[in-house]
Amino acid sequence: MEPWETARHWLSAATSVTVLTGAGISAESGVPTFRGPGGLWRNQRPEDLATPAAFTRDPLRSWEWYNWRRGIIATVQPNAGHLALARIEERSAQFTLVTQNVDGLHDRAGSRNILKVHGDIWTLRCTQCARAWQDLRPALPELPPRCECGAVARPGVVWFGEGLPEDVWSEAVLAARACDVFLLVGTSAVVYPAAGLAELARSHGAKVVEINIEDTPLSAHVDLSWRARASEALPRLVE
Ligand code: OAD
Repeated sequence: MEPWETARHWLSAATSVTVLTGAGISAESGVPTFRGPGGLWRNQRPEDLATPAAFTRDPLRSWEWYNWRRGIIATVQPNAGHLALARIEERSAQFTLVTQNVDGLHDRAGSRNILKVHGDIWTLRCTQCARAWQDLRPALPELPPRCECGAVARPGVVWFGEGLPEDVWSEAVLAARACDVFLLVGTSAVVYPAAGLAELARSHGAKVVEINIEDTPLSAHVDLSWRARASEALPRLVE
């Protein structure tokens, strides 16, 4: 059987589907990935931009980088991969989309049950009070932005060295444990704990299907490792 036939067969028999996406699904929309050719971490070090210490040291530098990324993301569109996941959700009795992406393209493609385990680049959070809010302007005019209480605001994303949002993460763990099919799409599967969801799903009996253009450390530990672009593979599952 071709990979798409096997994956379709498992999906059609599944009651509960959980998906974990990474930067690779948005790559074909024009959003840079983190690793690999052209990856963001090729030119910048996470510890200079995306850690609590980096932000405390130089909030402007960190914000300029996030503002630049907001500007790119605002000009791109969800691709066929994002759209196919929204269609799989419509057809599934239970469906959870866990994403490491902060770009909001899954929302724009029509997915509903989304767990953003690494946060959301369109959310701002006050560094002093508990306030969090959405600001959809492609680029923020004033950097660093401020909360109405006067304190500096930070991007509503998870930085290296920080824990994941607890309620969101607990739901992701439950969805990984409960699913019949787990799709692992466009992620290098090196950042934990998110990557561990695939192993958790498999240990609870799910069929795990990896869709990636390259091998990852999890490729040898999944039921089906499908070498394909997300924008080509995912639509084949709903054709
Ligand atoms: P990476 O940049 O680490 O990996 C992207 C993956 O997508 C690679 O395995 C590529 O082979 C694959 N890929 C690229 N184009 C693809 C395509 N068209 N179709 C399918 N696969 C494709 O991105 P993530 O795994 O998302 O964390 O990175 C995980 C986390 O590391 C991010 O959420 C971010 C980053 O540092 C934080 O910021 C906390």
